[in-house]
Amino acid sequence: MNDKASKAAGAAREPGTTNVRTLSVKSKAAVYETLRDSLRQLIADQTDFLANISNFAALLFSGLPNLNWAGFYLLRGSDLVLGPFQGKPACSCIAMGDGVCGTAALQRAAVLVPNVHAFPGHIVCDEASQSEMVIPVFKDSRLIGVLDLDSPQLGRFDDFDREQIESLLHLLMAGTDVPEFRLAPPD
Ligand code: SME
Repeated sequence: MNDKASKAAGAAREPGTTNVRTLSVKSKAAVYETLRDSLRQLIADQTDFLANISNFAALLFSGLPNLNWAGFYLLRGSDLVLGPFQGKPACSCIAMGDGVCGTAALQRAAVLVPNVHAFPGHIVCDEASQSEMVIPVFKDSRLIGVLDLDSPQLGRFDDFDREQIESLLHLLMAGTDVPEFRLAPPD
């Protein structure tokens, strides 16, 4: 880069930022703030379980960049059954402990997979998927199922995404009535 181009690149940065990564973190925070506002509006007058989780999947799919699939797998006995989603048709049943979804449900903890081809037992639903994040969903500390996000980009999800989406799920569930049959037995 010559001297003039180097100065122009520096001027394009916001004051106090030093690299592109910092800028992208700032814009990600703004995206999640917008999603939070939209979610509050969507659930303000609605507590129905299917209505709210359907809108949640659509909200994330339309509002987050670089996703090819977003949706829920819901607990039924020791299986996870496909719930509301956006994206290509997907496998309809995943056993507890299988794939990324079953692992997150079994461990009751989020699983971030930067490269799905390197995750033993990954279940392929859309061949476009390169990275994935699965977050367990709880109501009053009882498991309901998992939220699954897939991306065609390697390493799409980081801890900031996980924290933000866990927080959005918390907001969603606080405003949603969940039928007893959807809840895992209390611990
Ligand atoms: N890849 C997931 C299966 C669900 S699809 O990606 C929609 C898994 O390994 O559990």
